[in-house]
Amino acid sequence: MRLDKFLAESTDLSRSQSRKVLSAGEITVNGEVVEKGTFIVNDGDVVAWDGEPLERVGLRYIMLNKPAGYECSLKNSQHPSVMNLIDIEKRDRLHTVGRLDVETTGLILITDDGQWTHRIISPKHRCDKVYLATLAAPLCEEAEARFAEGIVLDGEDRPTLPATVERVSPTLARLTIQEGKYHQVRRMFAALGNHVEQLHRERIGPLALDDDLAPGESRFLTADEVNALARAGDE
Ligand code: URA
Repeated sequence: MRLDKFLAESTDLSRSQSRKVLSAGEITVNGEVVEKGTFIVNDGDVVAWDGEPLERVGLRYIMLNKPAGYECSLKNSQHPSVMNLIDIEKRDRLHTVGRLDVETTGLILITDDGQWTHRIISPKHRCDKVYLATLAAPLCEEAEARFAEGIVLDGEDRPTLPATVERVSPTLARLTIQEGKYHQVRRMFAALGNHVEQLHRERIGPLALDDDLAPGESRFLTADEVNALARAGDE
């Protein structure tokens, strides 16, 4: 990894501040002053700033049980951001893996690994997203067939990918989709003439929201969970 990237991942220095401390000779690698940000740092090298060894913050992978009333943005705008619920260093590096509406609750993933995110949200990889929808009216008879063949949502040209629906009760449906168009679940039920009153995401690919994670609580994923999600949809 380049030394300037290492500094970005291990300090709060901006790029221009990094350049300054480098050219001031404040950074050493294995005890030798290095002034060039392009210098390659290898595993095991000790990078220090003014003699203090630096530790790189690795990539983070977090599951949050999103409460209603929070938005999936990096900063607060009309509603508080879900990032307020994560107490972690270098929080500004994190992003949510896709989005849930302000009123939607349940599983949201948060990370600073953009490639991992892309793998999960790209419809190409067909990673399941499972939602529990509380409906205003009983689910109509043709729901399974309409969702399986795909629905052309308002303002779209192409139908949604095939989706499956399970009837939990007349007004409670579990919907599995593999993409994440804007307000997709609400719009799919609206296309059937129904209305979603409450929406909760239970699962993404192989990863279910922990039962014992209260709304607003989060935890780091295990390495196995991170890897399983990176393969999600391929099976
Ligand atoms: N679909 C929706 O309509 N809302 C969400 O929050 C997620 C999926």
